[in-house]
Amino acid sequence: MTRILVVDDKEMMRDSVGAMLASKGHSIVVSASAPGAIEKIDSKSFDVVITDLQMPDMDGVELLRAIRERDETLPVILMTAFASVESAVEAMKFGAYDYITKPFSGDELVTSVERALERGRLLKANTILQARGVPAGGKACGREHEMVGGSESLVELRLRLRQIAESNSTVLVTGESGTGKEVASRWIHEQSDRSEQPFLAINCAALSTNLLESELFGHEKGAFTGASAMRKGRFELADGGTLLLDEISEIAPEIQAKLLRVLQERTFERVGSSSQRAVDVRIIATSNRNLEEEVASGTFRQDLFFRLNVLPLVMPPLRDHSEDISELVGHFLRRLASREGREPRRVDPDALELLKQYSWPGNVRELENICERAHVLSFDDLISAELIAPWLQPVGVIRGEARCPDPVSEVENHDGTVFICNGARRLEDIERDAILATLEKYGGHRQRSASALGIGVRTLGLKLKKWKESNLISPTT
Ligand SMILES: Nc1ncnc2c1ncn2[C@@H]1O[C@H](COP(=O)(O)OP(=O)(O)OP(=O)(O)O)[C@@H](O)[C@H]1O
Ligand SMILES: [Mg+2]
Repeated sequence: MTRILVVDDKEMMRDSVGAMLASKGHSIVVSASAPGAIEKIDSKSFDVVITDLQMPDMDGVELLRAIRERDETLPVILMTAFASVESAVEAMKFGAYDYITKPFSGDELVTSVERALERGRLLKANTILQARGVPAGGKACGREHEMVGGSESLVELRLRLRQIAESNSTVLVTGESGTGKEVASRWIHEQSDRSEQPFLAINCAALSTNLLESELFGHEKGAFTGASAMRKGRFELADGGTLLLDEISEIAPEIQAKLLRVLQERTFERVGSSSQRAVDVRIIATSNRNLEEEVASGTFRQDLFFRLNVLPLVMPPLRDHSEDISELVGHFLRRLASREGREPRRVDPDALELLKQYSWPGNVRELENICERAHVLSFDDLISAELIAPWLQPVGVIRGEARCPDPVSEVENHDGTVFICNGARRLEDIERDAILATLEKYGGHRQRSASALGIGVRTLGLKLKKWKESNLISPTT
């Protein structure tokens, strides 16, 4: 439902304008003065403001300017007596969307409001697109997010997803890297009754603490150096919709505390502001770490964990539903072929057998990559076992997950880095060794090391920072 704020010092006017719009199904809030209106705008989102031009204390133009300082896109319509049309025209320069001359008919009012709403929707969609374009913060839109697989575990998963989609509760999606946590989150949003509203994602591991805070909660003009204009955060932009907090385990304690508050009270403050804003956002958080362990080790707040873990969803690793491999391969090869407008490649039964035997440490994402590689590199229409066999070697470390062949042995990384792996070591130690070995191989070049390891350079940076802080590695690494 759209929210409209009606501002007029005359009660009769407020009530009749409010009633006309309420009859069209809008939700109406009224205010008898401009300062009162500002207070309301500071604590709740509106889609349109309609204000009288002449009011004692603070007039409509001043209100308009105050609104513009807070929000560049909120449409404002001025109501004016014929005698002051000139000042209304003048006010258009300060960014009023429209003005209507008193007395006006219900139709005139409704038409102006509908147009303003349309414009507001366009501007909001633009801001959301911009937010999605923030480097590494949001995911590209228009991605295919089908969930393929007829195995028992995927059928159960879909059933669970359907139940989750019907509720409004917070979801915590866990599972190894590449198991489809993000696909599942988008699926939930699309099947929910929020599907017409925005879905926004933010990768918590990719942003520094300060940037993450302002991306999440927005900031006021002048809140910090470089904050030249007010900016809405993801919580505000996703109002009415769903916000995906990807890799939630990576957030700093300060942000954990702030998130806890949003989850408890459904209100937050923009950076640099002290007014509380209310939002209606469904939260989905993902993690490929075991958050309970992070709670036990003190890096993740227990109270936040409980608030997030209302509806837990565990994504199965691909090796536990290898029955789906042939369907998934068919799906990926068809998609790749259709992009080029040709027939999909077929897979030799021996090759399929190899794929089914493999342990898939990188899960569906790894399978998707292998399919693409086979699609591109295969010399004929049939993908052979010889072609793919070399790509399915035991791999030491993929995206922070280590898997050791038994017994103790040397393990070769993606790029040929060899490190020693012994069954009794902690996963994190193995991960650290692999990262240090890769860094050494690339002369400390983080970008190259991160790509060789198949992780983001920021994730790599965060890990190094954490280890330095706990004196596990040298401060000069
Ligand atoms: N059941 C499925 N059917 C089709 N494609 C899938 C399925 N599961 C995952 N994928 C594909 O695998 C890739 C990885 O999925 P996604 O990004 O959702 O994984 P993730 O669990 O979020 O991984 P990470 O922990 O690395 O962020 C995506 O390209 C996605 O489209
Ligand atoms: Mg993900």
